[in-house]
Amino acid sequence: MRASLPQANAPCWCGSGRKFKRCHKGAYEPLRPGTVSPQRTVPPGIRAPAYAATGRVERWDEPRVKPPEVIARMREAGRAAAEVLAEVGAAVAPGITTDELDALTHEACIARGGYPSPLNYRGFPKSVCTSVNEVICHGIPDDRALLDGDIVNLDVTIFLGGVHGDTNATFPVGVIDPESRRLLRVTKECLERGIAAVRPGRPISDIGRAIEDHATAAGFGVVHDFVGHGLGEQFHTDLQIPHYFEPSARTVMEPGMVFTVEPMISVGDARVRMWNDGWTAVTADGSRTAQYEHTLLVTDDGVEVLTAPPAS
Ligand code: MF3
Ligand code: CO
Ligand code: CO
Repeated sequence: MRASLPQANAPCWCGSGRKFKRCHKGAYEPLRPGTVSPQRTVPPGIRAPAYAATGRVERWDEPRVKPPEVIARMREAGRAAAEVLAEVGAAVAPGITTDELDALTHEACIARGGYPSPLNYRGFPKSVCTSVNEVICHGIPDDRALLDGDIVNLDVTIFLGGVHGDTNATFPVGVIDPESRRLLRVTKECLERGIAAVRPGRPISDIGRAIEDHATAAGFGVVHDFVGHGLGEQFHTDLQIPHYFEPSARTVMEPGMVFTVEPMISVGDARVRMWNDGWTAVTADGSRTAQYEHTLLVTDDGVEVLTAPPAS
């Protein structure tokens, strides 16, 4: 079932007075894979993570509690990621392609002396994830132009000073329908509730409980298949942050821990289907989803958002 799809001959929700099928209908057609442009390159002066050359990700033991000098670098990477997200997000408009958003992200990371972390991570072909409408996450930028009425998530990660900063947000394209507006608002609130649950001495499971309670009260679903994660010198560490109540997530939060919270919330069923590209995750029922993400530091008395949006 595709939630929130109006009748073809009913007046469009946008108030144009035209029939829906002559107005915003295009934004509700199922998304299809487009054409992906050749891989972009990074200038030799930019320090790249080890996987950049091979596409293979090696894991090593990395402390969950970061030393102060790593935290200092993560503050810088987090700030840069937030700046890039704000800059590229400002370019979202009907007519721009997700490949053009990828080019902007790529250049914005390099301009700050950083490497766009997604590029060749496990072979991911682009510098940012662009997830449109029913795409839950990990959408690959391509030649599809955004349509008035779409929603698009930009997931920006930068490798700067030897550490990663990871943040995302979902943007409306032109005028979006009321249910999509509610989806964006509730999903952002889910992230805020999750952040408010971050406190030393408390279990990780507090975060997912707060998120799930809020999403469920709004009648929305929580995606279980993708979780928040520890990060630092590595893009993803073994620490997992479920966005639903998971009683086994008993790890206790300690000052100095750094991880992401990044809830994916669906209007309809939260079950996942994968495209053949091996990356693009869509809802099985075609319903829209939204996501917001921050990189967080556990402090002595709560939390510091390392990817807080720049003051405008
Ligand atoms: N930024 C995503 C996250 O929040 C990960 C993207 S992995 C990629 O964890 F390879 F798709 F870039
Ligand atoms: Co991310
Ligand atoms: Co993340």
